[in-house]
Amino acid sequence: MENLLDLLRLRRSTRVFKDTQISPELVEMLMQATLMAPSSKRSNPWEFVLVDEPATIQTLAACKKHGSQFLEKAPLAVVVLADPSRSDVWVEDASIAAILLQLEAEDLGLGSCWIQVRLRQTADGEDAEAYVRKVLNVPDHLSVLAIIAVGVKAEERKPFDESKMQWEKVHLNGYGHDE
Ligand SMILES: Cc1cc2nc3c(=O)[nH]c(=O)nc-3n(C[C@H](O)[C@H](O)[C@H](O)COP(=O)(O)O)c2cc1C
Repeated sequence: MENLLDLLRLRRSTRVFKDTQISPELVEMLMQATLMAPSSKRSNPWEFVLVDEPATIQTLAACKKHGSQFLEKAPLAVVVLADPSRSDVWVEDASIAAILLQLEAEDLGLGSCWIQVRLRQTADGEDAEAYVRKVLNVPDHLSVLAIIAVGVKAEERKPFDESKMQWEKVHLNGYGHDE
């Protein structure tokens, strides 16, 4: 990897994984990157549950009606939790940690995909957060933001298409000054 921009171009969501376990060394590096995440006032309100038991991963894959089923075939699910009583900006803090995890995965040659849990429902209309909390026995004071599926890529994705880069969303010195 030449530089961070190259890494960002290559990182695309991976939803198809090889049937290969991730070594403990790589899992440790993933979590090293995650635990270095900046957070407001260094409150570090996040916690993470690493899930590598296939049966539990399968159960987690049913946490939503759409957009979570592919987790079934992932060797690792990182469930991103946070304690809202520790930070009023826990969503931001936990999201930053989650994207660092995804970027470290890419840097290690692994694929990953974010599965949104917060504000989502299961196929039965149950709150997806409550579902995940029950499956993993998560204490009540922790909220569930997302699950990051991680594994060895079994699909080729094109790098980010820079012709679609939305420069029009970048404004200099306010709206209307840069036209
Ligand atoms: C906050 C957030 C929630 C997402 N939720 C899901 C999800 O529930 N299921 C899924 O398959 N992908 C999910 N994604 C992945 C997006 O669909 C993906 O990042 C987007 O389409 C851009 O594609 P790319 O990651 O390949 O560049 C989510 C991404 C973000 C940032």
